[in-house]
Formats: sequence, C-alpha cells, structure tokens
Amino acid sequence: VQPLRVALAGLGVVGGGVVKLLDANRALIERRAGRPIEIVAVSARDRHRDRGVDLSRFDWADDAGSLAARDDVDVVVELVGGADGPALTLARATLARGKAFVTANKAMVAHHGIELARAAEAAGAAFKYEAAVAGGIPVIKGLREGAAANEIGRVYGILNGTCNYILTTMEAAGRDFAGVLAEAQALGYAEADPSFDIDGVDAAHKLAILASLAFGTTLDFASVAIAGIRPILAADIAEAAALGYRVRLVGLAEAGPKGLLQRVHPCLVPQDHPLAHVQGSMNAVVAEGNFVGRLFFEGRGAGEGPTASAVVADLIDIARREYGAPFAMPVDSLDERAPAPRGE
Ligand code: HSE
Repeated sequence: VQPLRVALAGLGVVGGGVVKLLDANRALIERRAGRPIEIVAVSARDRHRDRGVDLSRFDWADDAGSLAARDDVDVVVELVGGADGPALTLARATLARGKAFVTANKAMVAHHGIELARAAEAAGAAFKYEAAVAGGIPVIKGLREGAAANEIGRVYGILNGTCNYILTTMEAAGRDFAGVLAEAQALGYAEADPSFDIDGVDAAHKLAILASLAFGTTLDFASVAIAGIRPILAADIAEAAALGYRVRLVGLAEAGPKGLLQRVHPCLVPQDHPLAHVQGSMNAVVAEGNFVGRLFFEGRGAGEGPTASAVVADLIDIARREYGAPFAMPVDSLDERAPAPRGE
C-alpha cells in the first residue's frame, strides 16, 4: 500500500508532538488509517534545537514554501502560525497543487478560511483544521459531523486556556492578574503575542470558526465583539463567588432575530453550570442542538500531546480518504447574510 507522505512546516511544541505521536502509536495508526503515515520532509526556523526526538531521518527543507512543490509529498501540515505571511503562502501553494493541507492555525482559518476552503473544493483537496479550535477536543468533527443533523441554537465555551488558567488561579489563590499572567506564559500555553490571549482575540478566532460550522454561515471574524480579562480584579472574582458565580472568559455565538451574534467577554457563570467547573488551562465547548440537546465537550486546548492528537486525527481522515467540504457544506452554499454587524 502507498503510505500517506507528509511534510511538516514548523517544529515547535506541536510539530515535535506530531513526530512523537506518529512514532509512539505507529502500528495502531496504520491499522486505523489503512496505510502508514510517514513524514518525509520538515522545515523549521532552527534546525539545531533539541526537540527530544530524532529528526535526522527526514529531509530538511530550507524554506517551508518548497514543501508544497515536492512530488513526494501528499499532505502539508502547517504549524508555523500567523494569520498571513508564510503560513498563508504555504496554504495557497499547497491547495493550488491539489495537495491536502492540515493546519493548527486558528488565526489564519478565522481570517482566510473561506478562501482556502474554496481553493480546496476547486482542487478536490482536503483542508482540515481540527487542531485550530480547542486543541485536543474533537469539536470540529463533533459539530461538522456528529451534530450535522441538528439545527444549532447556540454554541459557546471556554476557548482560551491561558485566560482560564489565569482566572481559575486568581480564584483559587485570591491573587491579582499580573503575577498569574507571567506564570501562564511560563507554562507555554500563551500565544507568541500574549495580548491575543488576554484580550480575547485568540478565543474570537476560535469562536468565529465554530460559529461558521454550527450555523452554516460564512466566516466573519470582523463581527465578533471582543473584550478580554485585563480589567478583572481578584476582588471581582471574590464578589462573584459570594453571589454564586464564577468569572470565565466565554465565547458565544447565537442565532438571534437580527442574525448571528458572536461575542467574547468575561461572564458570570452560575456555579452549577458545567463551564464553572472547567479548571486551569482546560477548554470546553457547549453546543445546543434541536434534536441532540446539550452537548458538552471538555479537554486540553493546547500543548504538545493534545494538539498533536488533533493534527494526526486529520491525517488519519486524509489517509482513509474520509473528508468532505471543509465547512460541512460547499462554501458557495454557506449563508452570507446571517451574521449581524458588530455590537448589534
Ligand atoms: N494560546 C492558546 C490558549 C493556545 O491559551 O488557549 C491554543 O490555541
């Protein structure tokens, strides 16, 4: 059988995790995928950094862009990051050649997902991004496939582990924001620019993607109303607790009379709501379907193992040739009119 031949662009925490996971679970992945999944080429900014895994067996490409052009590559996995720049160039080049493209890049999907989906559909190529939303939680699959028969009323959740770590640590220890932020960064969950985490932008990227899947609407990141957690004081959290609430950064998308509302902001969550029990850097997503009822997904939203798990799940789908339109229906049938303007 022909293996699925993979090129990996970006060898940070997640890229290293993908290599380790494909090594550790090789036999079961091959059985489930129906064929071996083999990395043939990699690229990274720093060739010499120790990633705790043998990388000498792969071809090293000097620039990520050349990976798309290789005849011995079936799938390019992009773990470079950034909404535009090299990640987007690589995505376009890969899909233009009719090759499959897998990414963990929520900023790029939130800003350019429709363009990339259109390119993928035109080429008949796979475009998959399970790792882009809530790391290891299979929420793209859950909404796109598992809940596909339902009309969704609301989708919401805790979509940023850094903020949840900060808020739950402030809650447990009565500490203030600044000290806990430094700790969260040291744990390695934060974005390269941590303002994306604490100002709610990262959660908004993920929310826009979830909303598009849940409501069959075109991606509309610009319409997400966003507020972050910088102003939250330990005293606010204590006061909320006295009233029976916990403070969480929640992203919510809801079909309303004026269209789709998308917002990310700190919320008072009743202590008996499942989101109130999401601790530390965990993520959680709730979706309400008209036949399935309330779905609750919880898991790790970042880090080596969980994010690699989502990337490799996408590769297994591609190896099995089980993939369809990136947004569950062809891009041209997504609803352009549904989203309401910011703040309505
Ligand atoms: N910075 C993100 C978070 C990582 O803290 O959740 C995963 O997108």
